[in-house]
Amino acid sequence: MEKTFVSNSAEETMELGKKIAKAASNGSTFCFTGDLGAGKTTLVRGIAQALNIKSVVQSPTFNIMKIYFDGSKPLIHIDAYRLADVDTDIGLDEYIGYETGLTVIEWPDFIKNLIPSNAITINITNLGDTKRQITIQTEDTSLLEDLN
Ligand SMILES: Nc1ncnc2c1ncn2[C@@H]1O[C@H](COP(=O)(O)OP(=O)(O)OP(=O)(O)O)[C@@H](O)[C@H]1O
Ligand SMILES: [Mg+2]
Repeated sequence: MEKTFVSNSAEETMELGKKIAKAASNGSTFCFTGDLGAGKTTLVRGIAQALNIKSVVQSPTFNIMKIYFDGSKPLIHIDAYRLADVDTDIGLDEYIGYETGLTVIEWPDFIKNLIPSNAITINITNLGDTKRQITIQTEDTSLLEDLN
């Protein structure tokens, strides 16, 4: 099942992120796909806001993973972009799907074998200027209903 939204600004994308965080069950894994600059990290910032995380969520491109513990539940933010040509196991599987929190993975295709089968995929397509198409794909129909 999938549902598509159109966002006209970074703020609107963050608002959708907040709704997603509120609708998400603990232990969920989200895969964010879309080109460089599409708005994946912006959507993560909305999720972080809903969890009352005060730290600034940045692209963890150089860290690969950052875990925020200062909110209502842990947020595990992974950016696998730097793992494109790397074959080394760095133990990310211990954190993906962290059961009391939410996991968000940017560039999931670079760590395909670590993605849980029930992960929710969210693709962002740049439609020009500040317009983005955001498509959420999941078998969890109640999550999609909660996003109305
Ligand atoms: N509707 C929109 N939704 C999200 N971001 C938008 C929108 N309109 C403009 N932007 C801008 O686009 C940029 C998105 O950057 P962001 O870091 O979120 O992209 P990203 O997909 O995480 O890129 P990367 O693959 O490099 O990590 C930001 O500068 C943001 O302000
Ligand atoms: Mg990013």
